[in-house]
Amino acid sequence: MDNELQRRRLLKALPLTAAGLVLAAADTSAQQLRVEAGKILVAYYSRTGNTAVIARQIRRAMDATLFEIKTETPYPEDYQATVEQARRETQSQYLPPLGHFVADIDGYDMVYLGMPIWGMTAPPVIRSFLRAHDLSGKAVIPFITHGGYGLGNCMDVLHAHMPSADLHPAFSMEADQERRTLDKVSDWLTEK
Ligand SMILES: Cc1cc2nc3c(=O)[nH]c(=O)nc-3n(C[C@H](O)[C@H](O)[C@H](O)COP(=O)(O)O)c2cc1C
Repeated sequence: MDNELQRRRLLKALPLTAAGLVLAAADTSAQQLRVEAGKILVAYYSRTGNTAVIARQIRRAMDATLFEIKTETPYPEDYQATVEQARRETQSQYLPPLGHFVADIDGYDMVYLGMPIWGMTAPPVIRSFLRAHDLSGKAVIPFITHGGYGLGNCMDVLHAHMPSADLHPAFSMEADQERRTLDKVSDWLTEK
């Protein structure tokens, strides 16, 4: 499915799901709406902010709880150093320690799980997150940004790390890639 079609589907799906929550509340009370809405978690990892933009939009549309996944030790500022570290960690299946944890993960029925693609797969910290939080029985809807090379084996990795979750197809889109920006700026600086 092309990115534009996926994007339109997500935008269409968001108000529908939100409407579902309103309906759920209509026959009960405003209190119930808050309880229902509170059951949605938007958990995401984002190094340069692309995935974070989508996470914040989903949070607003769904009145969900937002949780930024962080490593205990941040990745290097330097792009190439991060690529190298991520490559080593993926190859060795290393699980970088998490900076913090979701309080009461059992309280959520639905989890929007956001990430960029790193080295044609999920970033190592996503495996750490899934190891530390049991998403069995929950609806999990991934949203993924990449630099133009697609999802690689990301969905297989997600499935392998939460085999008992109800894993939905991902919303994905190409987003600005730091490397492209760095290359363009380097060219510009060397041309001068
Ligand atoms: C370490 C690293 C590895 C990356 N590997 C890929 C890749 O394999 N394929 C791809 O299309 N983009 C790759 N990218 C680009 C990111 O997926 C893309 O820029 C993404 O939108 C970044 O999201 P963020 O701003 O939320 O961190 C990589 C970026 C980094 C930092």
